[in-house]
Amino acid sequence: MKGIILAGGTATRLLPLTKVTNKHLLPVYDKPMIYYPLNTLSKAGIKDILIISGPGHAGHFLNLLGSGKEFGINLTYEIQEKAGGIAQALGLSEDFADEEKIAVILGDNIYIDNFTSAINDFSKTSEGAMVFLKEVDDPERFGVATIEGDKILKIEEKPKNPKSKFAVTGLYLYDNSVFEIIKTLKPSDRGELEITDVNNHFIEKGNMKFAIVKNEWTDAGTFDSLLRASNMVAKKE
Ligand code: DAU
Repeated sequence: MKGIILAGGTATRLLPLTKVTNKHLLPVYDKPMIYYPLNTLSKAGIKDILIISGPGHAGHFLNLLGSGKEFGINLTYEIQEKAGGIAQALGLSEDFADEEKIAVILGDNIYIDNFTSAINDFSKTSEGAMVFLKEVDDPERFGVATIEGDKILKIEEKPKNPKSKFAVTGLYLYDNSVFEIIKTLKPSDRGELEITDVNNHFIEKGNMKFAIVKNEWTDAGTFDSLLRASNMVAKKE
């Protein structure tokens, strides 16, 4: 299983913090943000990791993380020329994935959970895809899943009237068919290739699993969630 960290995008919601630097290099408590998704993948046993970032800051990631040796992992870098959406960024990793299954994590998602067993099980036995849900008070900010028993029925991206409180968090497991799905996508109203559209394809094929995130989780892409991320990490240390 290979790992992919998505660290592109424009992060306009964090201006002026992101005027001259990349969101994923901003501090979350005592470390640059990207350390956390990197650690989530590496503690789950994923050692080959691709970092996808925008053209302006790729060199900064290289300066910070280098080959990955210091962290006991192998790092590869790829550039997303324009912020065309999470699914568009993911499409750039097809050669890197090289037919293997992949674990994809958004560079602004901070988890406490350890995903070793979910990732091992998916890697050995599952086809299709898997997402990780967390009950939140503000589901309208996220992809929101409707579930029935152990089945996921649909995901809606930032719905005005969410049908549940289950946010789809930013860790996704896929088999290689994800790349064929991405090639069929059309841009959404916000002009992006949406990861929620990718996930709904797997749901329609009956090929999507989910698990619930046990410990605290947050994104860090707004002022409030960035502050929450720092507090969450500080409390754990
Ligand atoms: O945090 C989880 C949420 O992330 C999910 O619940 C949503 O379904 C998903 O669409 C996403 O929502 P956001 O609107 O918060 O995503 P954002 O645009 O902030 O992008 C999240 C990360 O994805 C960002 O830190 C870097 C990466 N990204 C994003 C875009 C748009 C890229 O690498 N390239 C891109 O073009």
